Amino acid sequence: MTKKILITGCAGFIGSNLVDDLLQSNYKIIGIDNFDNFYSPSIKENNLKNALNHSNFKLYKADITDENSISQILKENEGKIDTIIHLAALAGVRPSFDKPREYFRVNTEGTFLIFKNAIQHNIKHFIYASSSSVYGEIEGQKAIEDVTPLKPISPYAESKLKAEETIKELHKESNITVNIFRFFTVYGPRQRPDMAFAKFKRLLIEDKMIELYGENISRDFTHISRIIKGIKAGIHYRNHLEIFNLGNGEKVSVREMIENIGNELNIRPTIVTVNRQMGDPSSTLADITKAIEKLKY
Ligand SMILES: NC(=O)c1ccc[n+]([C@@H]2O[C@H](COP(=O)([O-])OP(=O)(O)OC[C@H]3O[C@@H](n4cnc5c(N)ncnc54)[C@H](O)[C@@H]3O)[C@@H](O)[C@H]2O)c1
Repeated sequence: MTKKILITGCAGFIGSNLVDDLLQSNYKIIGIDNFDNFYSPSIKENNLKNALNHSNFKLYKADITDENSISQILKENEGKIDTIIHLAALAGVRPSFDKPREYFRVNTEGTFLIFKNAIQHNIKHFIYASSSSVYGEIEGQKAIEDVTPLKPISPYAESKLKAEETIKELHKESNITVNIFRFFTVYGPRQRPDMAFAKFKRLLIEDKMIELYGENISRDFTHISRIIKGIKAGIHYRNHLEIFNLGNGEKVSVREMIENIGNELNIRPTIVTVNRQMGDPSSTLADITKAIEKLKY
């Protein structure tokens, strides 16, 4: 019998793209999502439209911070799940300044709970979706996985780094294998409406002004298909606990990115430069040597 993969945050941008891809590759998937209202739950329902018609997909509407629900789901599927891919989180840097406690509750404590239950229910392999934001301000340098100290500059980034540390600590006492993936600004179909590509495209179509949060801002933009390739390789790569950057390995200035979208849409953007936003590093750039070597990324 093919073992199943459990994906938390399955209805979101990255989760739903991953579910569709894995179903196409004949995996059996159990999805968990609470359809929170960080952005419209109807968008998330739509993201899962294909998957819900697939016999190899089962959805649980559940909250990862509710221990009873999580252990119940794992009990119900005892012995059938091989890997957990933990994507559920409050994503988005800026709102984390308004509700830091909520970010820690979901992102850090929620991860603790999922990982602890994974160990208790003898799950073999665990993949955690971390973020490039754990590096903080890298000032144009390439971020390498083992750089220290990490200096996150937002509650979101801190909540993701604390989750990594929690996993490392619990992992010491267990046999589960773990891959921690630090994603770098992911774009592509179903991108969250608060993220740059989706937002700029919307503003361009509505003929509205675009605020650029500071000149000389650049990002390592990574297409969703590449992130999925990395995660799929990570399902098979099993070696104690490893941390990998999943990025593109190149940076693009945000101004250039807006101009490129404008060119594609044949709309000339009106860009106004305003102050840098709290929590936004000036650049992100992944060193992807390790992922290329070990995951053939
Ligand atoms: N998109 C990016 O560029 C990016 C970059 C770095 C890291 N990440 C990480 O990747 C993961 C997925 O991000 P995304 O962009 O797809 O975000 P998303 O908001 O589209 O997806 C997250 C999903 O998790 C669900 N969720 C939130 N809280 C939950 C809870 N308590 N219980 C159950 N489900 C819950 C949401 O309903 C949503 O469907 C997150 O962990 C995020 O931190 C994303």
